[in-house]
Amino acid sequence: MNTYDFTGKTAVVTGGAQGIGLAVAQRLLASGARVASWDRNTDQNKAALAAHDVADRACAVTCDVSDWDQVTRAVQSTQAAFGGIDIVVNSAGIAGPNATVQDYDNADWSKIIAINLTGTYHVNKAVIAGMRARIRSHSQHRLNCRQRRQPQCQRLFCLKGRDHRLYQIVGQRTCRAGHCRQLCHPGGGTHPNL
Ligand SMILES: NC(=O)c1ccc[n+]([C@@H]2O[C@H](COP(=O)([O-])OP(=O)(O)OC[C@H]3O[C@@H](n4cnc5c(N)ncnc54)[C@H](O)[C@@H]3O)[C@@H](O)[C@H]2O)c1
Repeated sequence: MNTYDFTGKTAVVTGGAQGIGLAVAQRLLASGARVASWDRNTDQNKAALAAHDVADRACAVTCDVSDWDQVTRAVQSTQAAFGGIDIVVNSAGIAGPNATVQDYDNADWSKIIAINLTGTYHVNKAVIAGMRARIRSHSQHRLNCRQRRQPQCQRLFCLKGRDHRLYQIVGQRTCRAGHCRQLCHPGGGTHPNL
């Protein structure tokens, strides 16, 4: 198993109350990171983090990622608790009902788009300016695209295959800007630029 040292780094994990988000949060905590888990399920989010003996490095933030105001408040409370954000994992999402397009309920479709796609857009939009400023202020992290495979570089982890194109665009823009990112999502492989 790969090991990373994220000591001193602050990670946001959306959907960290259970499933993939919780598993990633656990790995980040085990690797020394501070983790803010943003999840709309307050009780489960708190309980999941309380199971770890790292109270000083973990905080549960109640946030519905489909709501822009809640996302901006989550950024503020994360920064107040841990300072600037270094790593983002977009894992909040819903599967939705299993039905054919012709039978799909329009309200269910809208809910999926609001959480899985718009929610990811909200989170990325809310954190990118701060992350870029933070990278600029740490010269050792000013990596260009040729250096992007180096394991010690800053990472922006993005999960969710449905939003792959959004990550491609974000990845291309941030790589072009001279910063290093790693984008990945379950079932979709790695960003082709990386
Ligand atoms: N499990 C898989 O095999 C798989 C495969 C490919 C993609 N994905 C995607 O990866 C993501 C995580 O999958 P999972 O299996 O861990 O799901 P999960 O249902 O186990 O966990 C999702 C978490 O997201 C939270 N959440 C849901 N809506 C939210 C919202 N609006 N705001 C904040 N938090 C919200 C839930 O409370 C929950 O804690 C999902 O988007 C899923 O579609 C999963």
